[in-house]
Amino acid sequence: MTTMDFTAPKFDGDGPVESLAGNVRFGAATAAFQVEGATHADGRGESIWDRFCRTPGAVANGDTGDIACEHYRRWEADLDLMAALGLESYRFSIAWPRVQPAGQGPVNAPGLRFYRLLAEGLRERGIEPIATLYHWDLPQALQDEGGWASRDTALRFAEYAAICGEALGDVVTQWITHNEPWVVAFLGHAAGVKAPGIRDWPTAVRVSHHLLLSHGLATQALRASVGPSASVGIALNLAPVHAAGPGEDHEAAARRMDGHLNRWFLDPILRGRYPSDMLDVYERMGDGALGSEFRNGDLPVIAEPIDFLGVNYYFPQRVFAAPQDGPLGLHHAPAPPPTTTMGWEVDPGGLHDLLVRLRRDYGPLPVYITENGASFDDPPETEGLIEDPQRTAYLRGHLEALAHAVADGVDVRRYCVWSLLDNFEWEHGYDKRFGIVHVDYRTQRRSLKRSALWYRDFIGWMRRLRG
Ligand code: FCB
Repeated sequence: MTTMDFTAPKFDGDGPVESLAGNVRFGAATAAFQVEGATHADGRGESIWDRFCRTPGAVANGDTGDIACEHYRRWEADLDLMAALGLESYRFSIAWPRVQPAGQGPVNAPGLRFYRLLAEGLRERGIEPIATLYHWDLPQALQDEGGWASRDTALRFAEYAAICGEALGDVVTQWITHNEPWVVAFLGHAAGVKAPGIRDWPTAVRVSHHLLLSHGLATQALRASVGPSASVGIALNLAPVHAAGPGEDHEAAARRMDGHLNRWFLDPILRGRYPSDMLDVYERMGDGALGSEFRNGDLPVIAEPIDFLGVNYYFPQRVFAAPQDGPLGLHHAPAPPPTTTMGWEVDPGGLHDLLVRLRRDYGPLPVYITENGASFDDPPETEGLIEDPQRTAYLRGHLEALAHAVADGVDVRRYCVWSLLDNFEWEHGYDKRFGIVHVDYRTQRRSLKRSALWYRDFIGWMRRLRG
C-alpha cells in the first residue's frame, strides 16, 4: 500500500480536531443490496429492489444488484482491506430476503450464516460490527401482501429482528433498526423513484408510521434477544433546512420541510408524539391517511428508548414556498456550488449546525454519524492510486465540522464514511461513485483512492492521540 505524508488537519476556528480522539470510533458503511451481488445464492428470496431494477426505466442503464461488488463472495478480502485501512467499525446491513426468503416463516440458515461469518471475521480483525436490519430490501413476498403500507409488515419485521438478535447477538452488539425511513416512505411511496415505486402521498404517510412502529417493535425484540449488551438505534437522514428567499412564506415553507424530513421522525422517536403542524399538513391531504394510531396507541412503542441516534448527513436543504406544489406547498432551490456529481451541495458547516440543533432540541443523546461522504468522478488509476482530492477535502471538512460539534458539547461516538466501496447507487445504478476504494466492475478489482489513505492516516493519528 502506498503511503502519504500526513498533516494533521488544521482548524480555522476554535475547538481542536483532537477532540474527536476521545470518544469517536471511525469506520465505513455499506448496505447489502448495494455491494453483495449473489442475489440468487444460497436460497435468498427476491427483494423489492430486484423487482424494481427490472422495471423498465426505473434504474439508470438498466443496472441491477445481481453482481454489484460481489462482496458476498469476496468478503474476506474486503475485510482484510478494512483492516489494512485501520477501520475501527464497519456498518453493514443484513438482507432480510437472505434470512427469511419470504419475509416470514422459516429461517434460511445459509443466509444467516453469511452474516455470522462476516461479524466473526470483523471481530477477528479488531473491527466492530454495526448491523442494520433494514436498508431497503424488503422481501418481495411481503410487498405482494401490501408491503410497508400494511401494518402486518411491522409485526413481521419484529420477528425478523428477533431472529437476527438470537442468531448474532453474541457477535454483534451494535444494532440499527432502519436506514432512512424518510427515503423508504416518501421516495419509495410518494415520489416513486425508489422501490417499490409507488406514487401516493397518503400511502407514504401510512408507510412512515408503520416503519416507525416497526422500529419500536424491533428495538424491543433486539433487547429481548440480544440481552443487556445490545446497543440499539436508528439511522435517519437529517439536514438543516433553509428558506431560499426572504419573507414569512418562505420561512414557513422551510418549517414544513423541516417538519417533513426531520421532526416527523425525531419527535415520535424521542418525544413520543408526532409534530402537530405536520399532522395538520398531512390531514389536509384527506383520504384518511392518519388513523387514530398517529395520536395515541402506537406512540409509546415508537418512543421505546434508544441507545444512540444514527445520523446520515450529506447536504442541507433549501426551499421556496410554492403553494400549488404538492401537499407540502414548496419546491427545492438549485444547490449552490460546490456540488458533488449527485448535485448535492457540499456544506460541512451543516453537519455541525444539525448536531448542535439536535442536542438543543432533543437532549444529549449519543450520536453515531452512520453515513457521510460524496460521489465524484474519479480519474484513472496512476501508479496504483486514484487521486480524489475533492472527496478527501469533503471528508476533512466534515471531520473538522464534527470536531466543532464535539467541542460544542455533542456526544459523538461513531463516524462511518459512506462508502467503503464504489457500489450500486440505487436508481442511479453504478454511475455514481461514493467509495474511498474504487471498484472496477469488469474485473472486481479494488484500488485505493487517495481519500482511503488519508482516512487511514487520520484514524492512525486518532489512535496515537488516544495513546
Ligand atoms: C443514502 C443511503 C445509502 C447511499 C447514500 C449515498 O441515502 O442510505 O444507501 O445510497 O445515500
